[in-house]
Amino acid sequence: MTKTAQTYDPDVLAARLAEVELIHGIHVFQSISSTNLVAKRLAESGAETGTLVLADRQTAGRGRHGRRWESPAGIGLWFSLVLRPQRRDDRWHLLPMLLSELVARSLIRQFHRPFHVKWPNDVIADGKKLCGILCESSSDGGRMEYMVAGIGLNVRQTPDDFPAEFRDTAASLRMVLHQDIDRTEVLVQLLYDVSQRLMPILHGEHPLELSGWRDLCADFGRAVRVRTPQHEWRGVLQQISAAGDLVIRDASGREQIIPYGQASLRVES
Ligand code: BTN
Repeated sequence: MTKTAQTYDPDVLAARLAEVELIHGIHVFQSISSTNLVAKRLAESGAETGTLVLADRQTAGRGRHGRRWESPAGIGLWFSLVLRPQRRDDRWHLLPMLLSELVARSLIRQFHRPFHVKWPNDVIADGKKLCGILCESSSDGGRMEYMVAGIGLNVRQTPDDFPAEFRDTAASLRMVLHQDIDRTEVLVQLLYDVSQRLMPILHGEHPLELSGWRDLCADFGRAVRVRTPQHEWRGVLQQISAAGDLVIRDASGREQIIPYGQASLRVES
């Protein structure tokens, strides 16, 4: 399967996204450091909810735990959204988890095949990582001012496009669907679906809850290893609490609760 060039046409994007309630302002770049960084700068100068920053290529794409996110041109969706919750809500920190559910559900709707979520914020296809989410927020006196939600979705990569260390664990839509995929189409559908679910939550009309996330997680009952910089746990994944914490049962039968956001999870079997 050859790869035809795919570039973003800002006029097409503006026209296709005009009907998406969430989106207000689209910034398209050929190459920038990181869409999260640029979106944060825009948010600091007042950009409103729904400001979209999209790049064909990132030169310093950022992942969780300070890791680098490979973002070559032409093959992935690399974008960030500025979000400003209108109501004080102590569950806002769970937004990245919710977003992983919304991305997975949109892909299920678009492609009629299973996609899963992995704690805390990954989207998985055929057991491999397809999408990562990095949210960065700014608060003032306990109230969240804005959140920048950065989404990296592998779309057109072949295994050779991934660095050797990720070849066994990373996937793209093209690899799991066995066909080339139009990035713009996936983005438009994705933002439409995210908007439908997110707008009522942003307006405080609907609570932010994780029951739908749990339905898409295929790891309950599996052996897992959980790591923070200070500690490592092994056990069987039991549950995700309402606060997004991971609950595992270790070999001695004790329940361990690992707080949301601090750890990375590896599924062992
Ligand atoms: C992870 O480590 O799983 C999160 C990866 C998030 C990558 C996306 S790509 C678009 C946005 N800009 C960034 O610099 N990072 C996020």
